[in-house]
Amino acid sequence: MKLKLKPWINDLPVYVAGRTIEEIKKKYGLKEVYKMASNENILGPCDEVRQYLSENLDDINYYPDSDAYEIRYMIARKYGLLAENIIMGNGTDQIIEMISDCFIDRGDNIVTADPNFIIYEKAALKCGGGVIKVPLAKDTFRQDPKAIVSSVDKNTKIVFLANPHNPTGTTIEEKELSFMLQNIPDDIIVVLDEAYYEYLSEGCKIDTVSFLKNNPNLVLLRTFSKIYGLAGLRIGYGIAGTEVISALNKIRMPFNTSLIAQRAAVKAIENDWYAEEIRWGVESQKEIFYKVFEKEGVEYIKSEANFILLNAGKHSGEIIEKLLKAGFIVRPGENLGFAGYIRVTISRSEINKKFLDKFVNIFKQFYGKNSKK
Ligand SMILES: Cc1ncc(COP(=O)(O)O)c(C=O)c1O
Repeated sequence: MKLKLKPWINDLPVYVAGRTIEEIKKKYGLKEVYKMASNENILGPCDEVRQYLSENLDDINYYPDSDAYEIRYMIARKYGLLAENIIMGNGTDQIIEMISDCFIDRGDNIVTADPNFIIYEKAALKCGGGVIKVPLAKDTFRQDPKAIVSSVDKNTKIVFLANPHNPTGTTIEEKELSFMLQNIPDDIIVVLDEAYYEYLSEGCKIDTVSFLKNNPNLVLLRTFSKIYGLAGLRIGYGIAGTEVISALNKIRMPFNTSLIAQRAAVKAIENDWYAEEIRWGVESQKEIFYKVFEKEGVEYIKSEANFILLNAGKHSGEIIEKLLKAGFIVRPGENLGFAGYIRVTISRSEINKKFLDKFVNIFKQFYGKNSKK
């Protein structure tokens, strides 16, 4: 049988997910494996969320609230907005997909940095659209506002920005965001993906919600997968003007976020102090990574998220393999548009220490002492 697939579906890029703990345990016969590959919060959600969930499972035979009103209301209240400004998704991935489904037709394109979070590209290609890729600035690894603006053409429907950027952890400054919003025509959707927003240090945080007032084409994306420790439940949200939100709601499938995910997210917002506690812990752990990397001559990019991209040079593949054998799953840069690099997610302090000891030991086997390669 010859499938009548849409012709461009076969050519879609495959998302290479991080390896699982079970897979690596089995493959290398290991008892202990640490996943430092997918930017999850190793500590998971706060105790209040865990307890609430374990005590509130009696009615899971019922469908969830299709409109997810309670969580949308809670999020809206947090930002001084209306529930009509919020849309929930099965992870922000799904909102990225919904935005593409709404705005991209064959012949249209998106503009985004190269590399960037691959789901933007996948969502656009799936709709038969194209991708205009704008290289990151050479020395700083940051998204390049001027180049992004000038890459927009008459077929551009969406500009995807990430702040912090994945996989580098670099940021967009407030004046850069203003510049892009002022210079991108207002009938083009500007998506600012803030999956790691809560990890930003105070000096780097932009009050992006305040930009919504004058920019009805702006969509902010945030998630419960990262700092709130709920990646497995799949729940994230978009914030935008009511016109964009109602368009997205037209194509949103009913019940796209589960009953449990909605409840967990409500409890997570009620216990928002947790995000700050996690941010602070990650920030101090990153300093330890930086110190070790500097001492050992490992090049890295300073990150405003919960991961660090480091340059492992021409032996990166062998280094990753040795790390796996030692029980550390990291993300190969090859899969993220950064050949020769490794992205490592910050974990608990004792795991970070074990990782750093192991990594330095392996790195030295290839490059000798204090090598900048
Ligand atoms: C930049 C960025 N955006 C969005 C996501 C997707 O998050 P979610 O789990 O909410 O779908 C990720 C997850 O890795 C990410 O790194």
